[in-house]
Amino acid sequence: MSDFLHTPVLRDAAVAWLAPRDGGIYLDGTFGGGGYARAILAAADCLLVALDRDPAAVQRGLALAARHAGRLRMVEGRIGDLLNLLEHEGVARLDGAVFDLGVSSYQIDDPARGFSFRQTGPLDMRMGTQKITAAELVNSMPESELADILYEFGEEKASRRIAQAIVARRAVQKFATTSDLASVIRGMVRADKSGIDPATRSFQALRIAVNDELGEIAAALAQSAQLLAPGGRLVVVSFHSLEDRIVKRYFAELCGRAPGVSRHDPAGLRNTAKPQFKLLTKTPVTPDAGELRANPRARSAKLRAMERLAA
Ligand SMILES: C[S@@+](CC[C@H](N)C(=O)[O-])C[C@H]1O[C@@H](n2cnc3c(N)ncnc32)[C@H](O)[C@@H]1O
Repeated sequence: MSDFLHTPVLRDAAVAWLAPRDGGIYLDGTFGGGGYARAILAAADCLLVALDRDPAAVQRGLALAARHAGRLRMVEGRIGDLLNLLEHEGVARLDGAVFDLGVSSYQIDDPARGFSFRQTGPLDMRMGTQKITAAELVNSMPESELADILYEFGEEKASRRIAQAIVARRAVQKFATTSDLASVIRGMVRADKSGIDPATRSFQALRIAVNDELGEIAAALAQSAQLLAPGGRLVVVSFHSLEDRIVKRYFAELCGRAPGVSRHDPAGLRNTAKPQFKLLTKTPVTPDAGELRANPRARSAKLRAMERLAA
């Protein structure tokens, strides 16, 4: 197990909005370092089912579960598959669910996981055990698809130029490491005054693609909303605008604040004559100055919450 530590972002706010009660059943869909899970278990005498797709996080969760005598069940899997995973656990209803999206410090700070352009490591970026790595994407994807990924998931304006440079370089030598890719990107994009590394957006884009992060979020929201009991709350912490947009729109639709049709609506929760959910956070909750000072990773975090209404 690695020695990296993860400082949870918006943990107290997330647990306050989740409002766990004694006897309730809750889901922490993104266990990570267990910061949220520990706080939920401390807040109420409840059952907590925790998911993570990363086997290293699952190991941490199993160690914590051993100290909580039947109150924490740690399950390895994707939040996009949570209906199946919870069914397998015999859980058909939730009194609340929380998702703290993205990567943990355990993942991003470990060069061996290949998420960081600051350290050299294999160009991997997989959160879980899926097959395709970032190296496979950049070494084999057609140039136009690569450019689309950089543009859509990284909002990278120089996407076409970068994709072209990647394809030219891989024809000579395939990419193997994070620093290898970062230096090609830096050669194509000039650093601006913000001080943000020019490789940031492209690395974000590849990470999202490798892990199908946006598809996972959409599926997880729909599946968890379906399981929520009346009074049950769904709380989501997102870290960039692409994630937040999905959460914001989905909540608005379910709370009767925006019309919408989606493929992710298995239980027909949207567009009903009377909304079945109420929005708890009219504007997103963000970290206060103290948390921002203490934890720069909290910078872009946004928390949104909604509650299932009584039938
Ligand atoms: C930001 S961390 C969560 C940190 C946690 N709240 C804490 O307090 O330690 C996100 C975690 O979610 C996991 N994760 C991200 N996407 C996932 C998905 N689609 N399915 C399951 N786990 C996912 C990652 O592996 C990572 O461990």
